[in-house]
Amino acid sequence: MLNDQRLLACAGHVSGKGIACDVGTDHAYLAAYLVKSGKCGFVIASDVKDGPLLSARATIEKYGISDKVMLVKSDGLDNIPPDNVSDVIIAGMGAELICSIIEKAPWLKNGVNLILQPMTRAPFLRRWLCQNGYETDAETAVKDSRFFYAIIKAHYTGISHTPDEVFENIGKMDLSDDVSREYAKKQAERLFKAGKGMLEATGGETNSALETAQKIKKLLEG
Ligand SMILES: C[S@@+](CC[C@H](N)C(=O)[O-])C[C@H]1O[C@@H](n2cnc3c(N)ncnc32)[C@H](O)[C@@H]1O
Repeated sequence: MLNDQRLLACAGHVSGKGIACDVGTDHAYLAAYLVKSGKCGFVIASDVKDGPLLSARATIEKYGISDKVMLVKSDGLDNIPPDNVSDVIIAGMGAELICSIIEKAPWLKNGVNLILQPMTRAPFLRRWLCQNGYETDAETAVKDSRFFYAIIKAHYTGISHTPDEVFENIGKMDLSDDVSREYAKKQAERLFKAGKGMLEATGGETNSALETAQKIKKLLEG
């Protein structure tokens, strides 16, 4: 029923220990999959807009699961009842928006499993998580036609630090996995190009982008 690799990878990180909340659910495809696959007994599917919530309702009615999915109109997690929520998925949004949604919901610090899939600026999200006491448990890379997506599983520990640039760019990707290796290679190429551009503009022999690209390349060779 769900053939979107990106959403399937998000589902793969859901613990299923309690209620899952899919923030920005749009058509509720992920919410429906979590229930129909038996991974979750109950899901909250939320969106800030009415149009997506209408599409979500159509999906859950189509699958006959209206009693197992609660639709909530909410800006981020503002209107979500936190009781028994074990997993929060925020997928398909920009990194800055994901960070602001997490920041506004301090109850996420009580052991909630976060599954985050930024459409832009994954390095920004990884740094923000580290600096705000969230530890990344694992990451998955997904390639959908020519685009790569990172799916980040994280939880709050309260231990804050600033990560190095290698972590910012490839996080906890499992480099024994082919798609994750491709993801890392692409990040190294992007950094190399940016670093070269900076050298041409400012001169000098190296810069942090080039050094990070080199370190990622070494990890891939090692
Ligand atoms: C690109 S869709 C992603 C849908 C789905 N999560 C996915 O990954 O395929 C983004 C959805 O997030 C919703 N959204 C945007 N900002 C939001 C916010 N602050 N709170 C809740 N939902 C939001 C949009 O209305 C839209 O339905």
